[in-house]
Parts: sequence; C-alpha cells; structure tokens
Amino acid sequence: MKQFISVKDVTDINLLVKQALHYKANPFIDKALGANKRIGLLFLNPSLRTRLSTQVAAQNLGMEPIVFNVDKEGWALEFTEGAIMNGTTVEHIKDAAPILGNYFDILCIRTFPGLQNRADDYGEKIINQFIKYAGIPIVSLESATLHPLQSLTDIITIQESINLNENLKNKQPKIVLTWAPHIKPIPQCVANSFSEWVNAWGEANFVITHPVGYELDTQYTHGATISHHQEEALKDADFVYVKNWSSYSEYGKVLSTDESWMLTNAKLALTNNAKVMHCLPVRRNVELSDEILDGANSLVTKEASNRVWAAQSVLANILGSL
Ligand code: CP
Repeated sequence: MKQFISVKDVTDINLLVKQALHYKANPFIDKALGANKRIGLLFLNPSLRTRLSTQVAAQNLGMEPIVFNVDKEGWALEFTEGAIMNGTTVEHIKDAAPILGNYFDILCIRTFPGLQNRADDYGEKIINQFIKYAGIPIVSLESATLHPLQSLTDIITIQESINLNENLKNKQPKIVLTWAPHIKPIPQCVANSFSEWVNAWGEANFVITHPVGYELDTQYTHGATISHHQEEALKDADFVYVKNWSSYSEYGKVLSTDESWMLTNAKLALTNNAKVMHCLPVRRNVELSDEILDGANSLVTKEASNRVWAAQSVLANILGSL
C-alpha cells in the first residue's frame, strides 16, 4: 500500500480486516517492522481517538511517532497556488511539505472541510497538496470529505460482531446508516466514507436513511437503498450506524434539527436487536440518547478501541511497501 486516503487504496478489504483482528490478538507481533522508521502525525484540527490510536499503532510496530499540532503550534500554511502571501498565511505548503518528507518515512494528516465552498472541500485541496509535495506515503487521519481509518475500523467492528454471533454468520447483515440531529454543521466525511466502504465491501444489505435535503454525494452512496422514513429503514437491521451530517446540496447548512430522528430504545425495538455504532465524539441526548449509549447494544467503546488495529494494519502495509 503506497498511501491511505480512501477505500480505493485497498486491494482486499477482508484481508485488511483479518490482519487488523490478528493484531488485536497479537499487538506486538510485528514490533520489528517499523524499527528506525519515523511517522509524523500532523493535526490541523482537534482529535482524541485518531491521534492516540495512531500513536499506539505506530509504537506497536516499533515506530517513533511525532505529533505536531499545526493549527496551534505551526506557521499558518498557504495552500493556494500562486498566492501573494501578504495576508495571514506564513508558509506555503510547497515549501513545508518537502521538508516533512525528509524528516519522516510516513506522514499522516488530519484536516477538516471549511463547509463554505463545496468545490474546494470536495477537491481535497489540502491533503492532495501534501501528497503532491511531501514525496512520502500519506495517511489520511480524516480529510475534507472522507475518514478512511474510521470506516476501516467500522468494518472491522461489524465483522468482529458477526464472528461472535451465530445468528449473523450465515446471512447478509442489514446495515442502516441513519442521520441524527445536531446543533452545528458537521462534515459529511464519516457518512461519505462509511457508505463508500460498506458499498466496496459488498457483503451487506445497506440502507441509508435521512430527512429530505440530506442526500449525500452519490459517488459514495451508489448501491445503497436510500429512505426518508427512518422507522421503515430500521426494520430488521442488524447494525445501526448513527451519524449527523450537514447538507451536501445546500452545502454545509443545517436544514433540520428534528429531535424525532434521535435513536431511542423504542426505535431499536424495530430492529433485529441491532448493535449500535457511532464514531464519537457524540453529543448525548442530542445526536444519540443515553439509553442507547449506555445500553447493552452499544458498540461505541469497542469501535473506538478498534481504531488501534485499523491503524496498525494500514501502517504495516505501508511499511511493507517502503
Ligand atoms: N472518531 C474520531 O475520528 O475521533 P477523533 O475526532 O477524536 O479523532
């Protein structure tokens, strides 16, 4: 694997999932793989899980991770080609990225969308310029439109649950991605990426449900059944993935905060005793109820813990290609 930006960088999802679960059982088995290799983790936005799980994964592989909070500690970076830099930006990505490419063997970047201009965000200007100018493998720690380490984790967590449940082993699982209310405009990254990965995995009956106006980019959802009726969509679900996202068509806007879309135990009763997932962080009793998050069907802690094994399998594959 030469980079990890989207599911397109993965040749065999099931093999990667198997490798991740192998690392979960044997965390230090490849401790020698990353000896004398350095990994840089650059954050242009906040993180808890991605930052810490990737550091743990790198250390499990014997690598030395160095974290740099560019947003708080670095020079303000310029990403526009030909910019006359007489404003707030101090250093052009063309100058900074090649230096990072010399310091590190692998470079990981987290950046969020501005949610102001869809063409800019969906053009992935920031991560694409790191790819262009750093000259080393780039790993997305979440970009403007996708969150591939989260989505790989989600498939790992679903597969792990299937492996542990006799009733799910010999059937095609029904996975429902449901929009949930939120008070702020939230990126579409997690929902885009989850859709892209579940579709590429191809082993589920995949349904996406959201209010009118929250249609995601069809390049990611193509192949899924789309429903505007949450309760109908939830019927017989084996996994329910809860996530808020802002509008793609009316870009970055909050069109609804309809509380009735929050998942509750009454709604969960419509499902096939579904396991409930969320990438976290979550706003309790806005996006997802206490009764679900604290209930027996919640997978959220296991899901967040599995971030380590997703990162470890990806980094191991990239190390193997150096
Ligand atoms: N799910 C996730 O990416 O969490 P963080 O934003 O805390 O990294």
